[in-house]
Amino acid sequence: MSSFLLFVLLHIPLALAHGYVSRVTVDGTEYVGNPPGHNTSSSPIRMVSSNGPVQNLSSPFLACGPDAQPAQLEAIAAPGSVINITWVSGGGGNWPHEVGPVLTYMAECTNTTTCKDFDTTGARWFKIDEAGKQSDNVSWVQLYIEEGRNFNMTLPENLAPGPYLLRNEIIGLQNAMARGGAEPFPSCTQLIVTGNGTGVPAANETVSFPGAYNSTDPGIWFNAYDNTHTPYVFPGPPVAVLINATAAQTNDTETNNTTAPALDAPSPEKYKLPPSGTPELDAPSHDGCTEMDATPVLTVMAARGRIALVEL
Ligand SMILES: *[C@@H]1O[C@H](CO)[C@@H](O)[C@H](O)[C@H]1NC(C)=O
Ligand SMILES: *[C@@H]1O[C@H](CO)[C@@H](O)[C@H](O)[C@H]1NC(C)=O
Ligand SMILES: *[C@@H]1O[C@H](CO)[C@@H](O)[C@H](O)[C@H]1NC(C)=O
Ligand SMILES: *[C@@H]1O[C@H](CO)[C@@H](O)[C@H](O)[C@H]1NC(C)=O
Ligand SMILES: *[C@@H]1O[C@H](CO)[C@@H](O)[C@H](O)[C@H]1NC(C)=O
Ligand SMILES: *[C@@H]1O[C@H](CO)[C@@H](O)[C@H](O)[C@H]1NC(C)=O
Ligand SMILES: *[C@@H]1O[C@H](CO)[C@@H](O)[C@H](O)[C@H]1NC(C)=O
Ligand SMILES: *[C@@H]1O[C@H](CO)[C@@H](O)[C@H](O)[C@H]1NC(C)=O
Ligand SMILES: *[C@@H]1O[C@H](CO)[C@@H](O)[C@H](O)[C@H]1NC(C)=O
Ligand SMILES: *[C@@H]1O[C@H](CO)[C@@H](O)[C@H](O)[C@H]1NC(C)=O
Ligand SMILES: *[C@@H]1O[C@H](CO)[C@@H](O)[C@H](O)[C@H]1NC(C)=O
Ligand SMILES: *[C@@H]1O[C@H](CO)[C@@H](O)[C@H](O)[C@H]1NC(C)=O
Repeated sequence: MSSFLLFVLLHIPLALAHGYVSRVTVDGTEYVGNPPGHNTSSSPIRMVSSNGPVQNLSSPFLACGPDAQPAQLEAIAAPGSVINITWVSGGGGNWPHEVGPVLTYMAECTNTTTCKDFDTTGARWFKIDEAGKQSDNVSWVQLYIEEGRNFNMTLPENLAPGPYLLRNEIIGLQNAMARGGAEPFPSCTQLIVTGNGTGVPAANETVSFPGAYNSTDPGIWFNAYDNTHTPYVFPGPPVAVLINATAAQTNDTETNNTTAPALDAPSPEKYKLPPSGTPELDAPSHDGCTEMDATPVLTVMAARGRIALVEL
């Protein structure tokens, strides 16, 4: 590598090397997020303080991102809702990484009718989606995000109504050949799920953040360049098979504690209708961005597994 290129790489601001969720679309309704530390508009997306990863797997920030703050709004969703998530670089350009999975969890905001005041400390997260390598078993779904596409997923078809946090997480594995090198980027969006679903996670399907990941997990300490065909083992629990809240509660009563208790069944009555007021629809905030985007350079570096030069 030329010393000039090395000089340039070492001086790319971190703001351009990582990123954040700039927009979440639920069944076609767009919700715009705030750039890290710039609280300029009301949003259901919890604002983070930096666009860097949460590499300390014991940190409370592993729940929703660096110093994530409760947000003012909730996005209205329903069982089976199509969710599209837009990840951008710190400068507003394309997401800069391409190696590693995208995982999605939810947690009911318990003991409250909204997520606005919900503290994630006691949250019981269940996984609803995990996306890794594409069908060629070589390139990752994250590559699509780097190309500027949204990440798409759907909510469970039988999801019980209630307030939930949706935790969408990219785990960058470009440095994960070293223990501690994985780069989780969690992001949380506050949802109100409507409808008449009955599905809740079983107790053994829920995890806490921090707590769910260990630096020795095969999906966390993983050399993505060693043999690109190596099967990938997702970290965290399996995708939850939501059980019928009514049946689960009945069984609990009958068996008197021999069945692991399900989460409290949210009351459908409370969430039949969206709360008053239509969520704001702001224009995407990154369209006018004029900052230079370092994506092409970073892509080359990531492919060589040397992106650590930029980030350390
Ligand atoms: C990781 O986070 C935990 C919990 O906040 C903290 O106690 C610990 O010091 C952190 N470790 C490092 C290396 O920063
Ligand atoms: C963002 O601004 C709104 C409106 O001024 C305020 O209610 C909220 O507390 C602010 N959030 C943060 C994280 O500063
Ligand atoms: C919810 O409230 C109940 C009753 O007050 C309490 O036992 C429980 O610990 C609370 N759960 C959370 C997650 O705060
Ligand atoms: C999300 O959906 C759009 C529209 O169908 C598609 O173009 C895009 O490739 C999808 N994103 C991913 C990551 O698959
Ligand atoms: C959202 O995802 C759905 C399902 O993949 C897709 O049909 C739709 O085009 C996507 N919308 C956007 C804005 O990406
Ligand atoms: C929920 O059930 C009520 C009646 O029990 C019905 O009126 C309503 O349309 C249902 N909502 C959905 C989203 O299916
Ligand atoms: C949870 O417990 C059920 C019943 O014992 C079992 O079938 C299931 O595999 C367990 N799930 C997990 C994620 O351990
Ligand atoms: C991670 O796994 C190692 C090896 O199994 C274990 O010694 C350590 O206690 C675990 N750490 C956490 C935080 O669970
Ligand atoms: C769940 O329980 C409710 C109430 O008993 C019942 O109406 C519904 O059909 C059940 N759903 C499933 C998938 O078993
Ligand atoms: C509850 O018990 C019924 C009848 O014994 C059984 O069919 C059902 O699968 C059980 N549900 C759960 C969640 O264990
Ligand atoms: C169920 O638990 C209660 C409270 O601990 C206990 O008094 C009762 O004997 C138990 N019943 C059965 C059938 O185990
Ligand atoms: C029910 O299970 C909990 C958690 O395992 C335990 O602490 C409690 O003592 C049990 N209660 C009864 C009545 O067995």
